[in-house]
Amino acid sequence: MTVRRARRKRLHQDLVRPYTCRGATRPAMFNTSSLQIEQAQPLDAGTIASIHAQSWRSNYRGALSDSFLDGDVVRNRLDLWQKRLNAPTDDQVVLVARQTPGAQPADTGLANVIGFACGYFRDNQQWGTLLDNLHVLPSAQRQGIGAALLGAVAGWSRSRDPRVGLYLWVLDQNQKARQFYERFHAQDVGGDVWDPPGGGSAPRRRYVWRDLERLCTATQSDGLFTRVRG
Ligand SMILES: CC(C)(COP(=O)(O)OP(=O)(O)OC[C@H]1O[C@@H](n2cnc3c(N)ncnc32)[C@H](O)[C@@H]1OP(=O)(O)O)[C@@H](O)C(=O)NCCC(=O)NCCS
Repeated sequence: MTVRRARRKRLHQDLVRPYTCRGATRPAMFNTSSLQIEQAQPLDAGTIASIHAQSWRSNYRGALSDSFLDGDVVRNRLDLWQKRLNAPTDDQVVLVARQTPGAQPADTGLANVIGFACGYFRDNQQWGTLLDNLHVLPSAQRQGIGAALLGAVAGWSRSRDPRVGLYLWVLDQNQKARQFYERFHAQDVGGDVWDPPGGGSAPRRRYVWRDLERLCTATQSDGLFTRVRG
């Protein structure tokens, strides 16, 4: 086993253990000495928007216009996340991964978010719940955090209705993310063209999981989100 794989396995064991234990009373979704995943708060909007904008600048260049990426992208993302977090809809979940021992947002202000994901339950009759965003800070990548967030959104959806699948859109050009999803056996079921903010058009693929139990197992996150209010 490589050092990186061993580290990830340890991380997942820490992440999953409290929530696979029936009857556990811990309030957070998971909580280790250095990392926790929990529902985002309105105060997190600025940090999430900043990570999102940076991630688009790094990974979506060529698909989105340079003028948008170099200009309005931060304002655009901030508007989106303020709206989502200040007026959440019933079918929405926004999760953040924080790297702080036992910290709550009120203690830490806006710091320490190292990744986030957003889901919309049963967004599409055929494909199920939409994983709308998943981004991890570059410095925190390849440590299992993306997998934990993916597994947590899958677990949240599964806890609402295990028959509902999960899907997402990924840009054709985003090979890194496609390899990540394919590692967890997502199925590519076709493509279309996205009209992104700022103009232009970008080819994208739809990736789907029909069996969320299998996905939770693959991400080693089984049970991670079962204690969260649906
Ligand atoms: C895609 C993304 C969320 C993955 O997050 P991550 O925390 O780095 O992923 P993990 O550490 O959980 O990776 C799990 C496995 O996925 C695969 N994987 C992850 N990143 C990969 C990459 N860049 N290339 C190839 N395989 C990769 C590997 O098999 C990895 O296991 P390993 O590290 O033991 O080899 C992250 O790269 C990211 O934020 N990218 C920029 C934003 C983005 O494109 N989001 C997707 C929008 S659709």
